[in-house]
Amino acid sequence: MAMTLNNIVEQGKNGPAMMPIIQGVGRAAIEIAAVLRGAVFRGALGQAGGENVQGEQQQVLDVLSDEIFLEEMRATGFICAVGSEEQENLLIIEEYSHADYLVLVDPLDGSSNLDIDCPVGTIFSIVKRKSPNDQLPDVSDTLQAGRDVLAAGYVLYGPSTMLVCSVGEGVNGYTFNPNTARFESSHPNMTIPATGGYYSVNESNADKWADDMGSKLANLKKETGLGMRYVGAMVADMHRTILKGGIFLYPADSKNVTGKLRLLYEAIPMGFIMEQAGGKSMSSDGVAVLDILPEALHQRVPVYLGANAAVDTLLG
Ligand code: AHG
Ligand code: MN
Ligand code: MN
Repeated sequence: MAMTLNNIVEQGKNGPAMMPIIQGVGRAAIEIAAVLRGAVFRGALGQAGGENVQGEQQQVLDVLSDEIFLEEMRATGFICAVGSEEQENLLIIEEYSHADYLVLVDPLDGSSNLDIDCPVGTIFSIVKRKSPNDQLPDVSDTLQAGRDVLAAGYVLYGPSTMLVCSVGEGVNGYTFNPNTARFESSHPNMTIPATGGYYSVNESNADKWADDMGSKLANLKKETGLGMRYVGAMVADMHRTILKGGIFLYPADSKNVTGKLRLLYEAIPMGFIMEQAGGKSMSSDGVAVLDILPEALHQRVPVYLGANAAVDTLLG
């Protein structure tokens, strides 16, 4: 009998409470994957015409994925609110505003890959509310350091659709099986190799990098001889880094002076997964991603995520 997402219930003290929520993420992933496959025939590629709170052009599929994800989180009955890249403010789920948990989500990560049919993803993390259950949740419930996250993970929409997640007991990968129409265990206990792999960064920003990152990267390349791969979707670049080794980085630069990636729904969930996979998640030298206390829903940070030796060699 294939192991499905049900086995999350056996994973540590958070497993039982997190399983139904992660199963909801799985349902959203199946729906989003289907929408992505047929998008071109519905004229759903391209821009929605609006800008999101990030000041970025929203893709039609960003909006659709956000709607699907919110509906599946509501349908679990365990989520009182959702903080989404695509929504300026916290989305309170009225009928479950008394529920215990909140989800932070990047519903469609790497959306610039959509019209070239390259990999994209969904990134999520789950936190327990701080506010009393008889009050409405508010954005302060989301502003928790990554050390307090109960579960996190991502969906990778590639040649197959994978859901990779952790409830604090290591990282497990599940692949959608079209024959049984469910996610089944395919990559148990994912652990990043200590050496080898690739460095992964948008080097076209090198002339704008802060913190002497250009010479630090040159040193990493000299010391390790790593090859370079860059897909342009954090989920895909991080998934390859966990499986093959190396480091993914998005430094601050003169364009994004505090970094481009968002702390609450990109850096923290992916940093949590990287640490659970035996790697290291830094935001600058000496500052771990998971130790940062968030101050705003859409706050951006630099990220250096990868094998311990690679991160240490880069940051010195
Ligand atoms: P999103 O599509 O959710 O806005 O995320 C895009 C992010 C991330 O997925 C990726 O690592 C990074 O943007 C790529 O940025 P550049 O195109 O500047 O390299
Ligand atoms: Mn993203
Ligand atoms: Mn996104």
